[in-house]
Amino acid sequence: MPENLSKEQLLQAANEFGTPLYVYHAEKIKEQYEKLTTAFSVLDTKFFYASKALTNINILRYVKNMGCEVDCSSINEVKLALHAGFEPQQILYTSNGIAFSEIEEAVETGVHINIDSLSNLEKFGKKFGHSYPVGIRIRPNIMAGGNLKISTGHDTSKFGIPVDQLDTIKDVVKATDLFIRTLHIHTGSDIKDVEVFVNGMEVLFELIPHFPELEVIDLGGGFKVPYIPGEKETDVKLLAQKIKETFDNHPVADNKKFQLWFEPGKFLVSECGYLLAQVTVVKDTGPIVFAAIDSGLNHLIRPMMYDAYHHIENISNPTGEQKVYTITGNICETDTFAADRSLNEIREGDYLAIHNAGAYGFEMASNYNSRFKPAEVMIKDGHTYLIRRRDEWSDLLNNQVEVF
Ligand code: LLP
Repeated sequence: MPENLSKEQLLQAANEFGTPLYVYHAEKIKEQYEKLTTAFSVLDTKFFYASKALTNINILRYVKNMGCEVDCSSINEVKLALHAGFEPQQILYTSNGIAFSEIEEAVETGVHINIDSLSNLEKFGKKFGHSYPVGIRIRPNIMAGGNLKISTGHDTSKFGIPVDQLDTIKDVVKATDLFIRTLHIHTGSDIKDVEVFVNGMEVLFELIPHFPELEVIDLGGGFKVPYIPGEKETDVKLLAQKIKETFDNHPVADNKKFQLWFEPGKFLVSECGYLLAQVTVVKDTGPIVFAAIDSGLNHLIRPMMYDAYHHIENISNPTGEQKVYTITGNICETDTFAADRSLNEIREGDYLAIHNAGAYGFEMASNYNSRFKPAEVMIKDGHTYLIRRRDEWSDLLNNQVEVF
């Protein structure tokens, strides 16, 4: 098991590359991947890293070298995955709400495709008929996930084709002679309860008899990782056992061996990442002491977007007296990273490490307030590599057309 990055390693990176800075610990990604492959060795399983969590090309290549495949949510992610060196057959494209032309583009690359609307399914059938095996994303009408914004399988969600539209799906498949190879669900993110995956499978099991050419059951991503100290991640060993039991006990799955696919994002890359920032201002307002850092919701939106808890450490003063702070950014609207949080005493100039910043951290960053996006570094085998330079002045003007 790799040790987590030490405060010294983080401080060294902050000193060398400046802040705000994203730091990723490669071996942590591998540790998480191995937990999955070990747990699921009892079943024929493939893992597709949900690259939307973090698409830095070096991370994609690291994940590929571990033996993991890749899940994409846009044609550009597909292109990044190809650029990173994945073979088309190692790439899964789970589209949602897109124009059919983007699906056609994906077909040209030869990747696996999951379709999430009747409209695109019908177009796909009319154009490709039986020639291109495809998956259907089903909305199982299951409520799951850490909060409503990241719940995707419930009965008012935009994602997937509602399971109660099975008859129409069958009509389309029959009329256009589609080759349905995969049934897919993804019910949300931050799912700790393994029963959610089992319930989703049971919904899919009801559908299996209707798709005789089916080879793959794809249960999506969504495994929980600990954000708050002491929290537990999804017990993937228990999950594998339960899924195996469900397969073993289900009559429709009995006479055919299905391959199981998962699309983990957070589970692989959340804990590997830290956002390092420097304290710019300590402001004592009486009841609240604010510590402002040289970052903001433009660099890590999760606290403001999902009320997400991110653990924060003062790596410059690890033995300082515990005091209560509200950690904020430098953006011109409320951008609280943590409210009323106990931390070792903070002085202006101290470096803070914000944990669990690997997944949906840099990836959701923006240039709001015309701030630069941070640099990214990767620590692998004890060496630190710059894997994205910090934005610079020209990046702010790069795509602007100066007409007036
Ligand atoms: N598969 C599909 C089809 C997905 O839509 C997603 C995530 C995943 C896999 C990976 O889910 P994960 O294993 O990372 O939970 N920005 C939010 C999370 C949005 C997830 C979107 N879809 C956050 O920061 O919590």
